[in-house]
Amino acid sequence: MSYTPVLGKKIVLTDIPQRTLYTGARMPAIGLGTFGSDHVSADQVAAAVKDAASLGYRHFDCASVYGNEDRIGPALQETGIRREHLWITSKLWNDKHGEEDVIPSCRKSLADLRLDYLDSYLVHWPFSNFHPPHCDVSSRSPDARPYIHENFMKTWRQMEKLVDLGLVRHIGTSNVTIPKLKLILRDARIRPAVNEMELHPHFQQPQLFEFVRAQGIEPIAYSPLGSPGRPERDRTPDDTVDLEDPVIDAIARRRGVHPAEICILWAIQRGQTPIPFSTTRRNYEANLRAAVSEPLTDEDMRAIAAIDRNCRLIKGQVFLWRDGQSWEDLWDLNGEIAQ
Ligand SMILES: NC(=O)c1ccc[n+]([C@@H]2O[C@H](COP(=O)([O-])OP(=O)(O)OC[C@H]3O[C@@H](n4cnc5c(N)ncnc54)[C@H](OP(=O)(O)O)[C@@H]3O)[C@@H](O)[C@H]2O)c1
Repeated sequence: MSYTPVLGKKIVLTDIPQRTLYTGARMPAIGLGTFGSDHVSADQVAAAVKDAASLGYRHFDCASVYGNEDRIGPALQETGIRREHLWITSKLWNDKHGEEDVIPSCRKSLADLRLDYLDSYLVHWPFSNFHPPHCDVSSRSPDARPYIHENFMKTWRQMEKLVDLGLVRHIGTSNVTIPKLKLILRDARIRPAVNEMELHPHFQQPQLFEFVRAQGIEPIAYSPLGSPGRPERDRTPDDTVDLEDPVIDAIARRRGVHPAEICILWAIQRGQTPIPFSTTRRNYEANLRAAVSEPLTDEDMRAIAAIDRNCRLIKGQVFLWRDGQSWEDLWDLNGEIAQ
């Protein structure tokens, strides 16, 4: 479909929807993802961060494993935007769950990002499993373990300490399931404020989404466009394509916009905080513009709710800990933590 995005007109910052976290802090309800998926360089991502900030983005989703925080830091500094007007997330990588590793790892992200504190710091995955960057999905770590709650809580205690130290304002989870989150909520001194999870029209995760919200936790939507740029190794023949869905396409045509903008608007209106990745100006500008555009109708929202295909794209195969397992074992589909 060809379309001409309405670009150039200034986006009014106060029009960008915000989420209020349980601490009372306000977080922009759209952020820019920064994972270059192995094919977009750190410098390209940093340049996009700086330019996106000039358009009005104030929320940036970073992680040490993305390998670009040391470039994003200077880019953020160059924007001259006051620290309190930014929302910066980073994440603890899986090989740094050890009690002695959490605080140094956070300090390293802070140094790379040239910040004194993070707005949110997440445990990237609930599995403390090392695997080399860019490895194939068939790669298995000999040290891989299932989720061990006692160990996770040791990591979480250090996350809590980061809040006590003033290095982090909020802590959160990512890639957890309801049974894991129930245990974490039972034992946490400082509750997660956000949960980052895969969410897009073909993967709406209604139970986890509702559970998270009912707990006063903000759901952050990763891969909100269905991750069309993900590497080949993360694709399977059964994957479906949100941006080509006839329902999304029809709404986009009616409004004269790209289907991506419908995915963003739907996400925000549903109560998610999407963090689309983009280093193409017309795309990241269009995504931000979608966040301030006219709301979808109730009928549109109902029509999109009906196209859920339960199609998880980021399956996490590299975390499997036993031979003969399938990726479904990582996601506790029968309501119990798989061992
Ligand atoms: N917590 C986790 O475990 C986890 C996992 C995965 C991702 N994430 C986070 O979520 C972010 C986003 O996820 P993602 O990168 O997998 O997927 P995504 O945001 O769904 O898709 C990004 C792709 O969509 C394209 N795109 C963006 N806006 C577009 C538009 N308006 N029109 C057409 N194409 C558009 C981008 O290309 P262009 O660059 O050319 O625009 C890029 O190839 C990541 O960057 C990362 O920060 C977190």
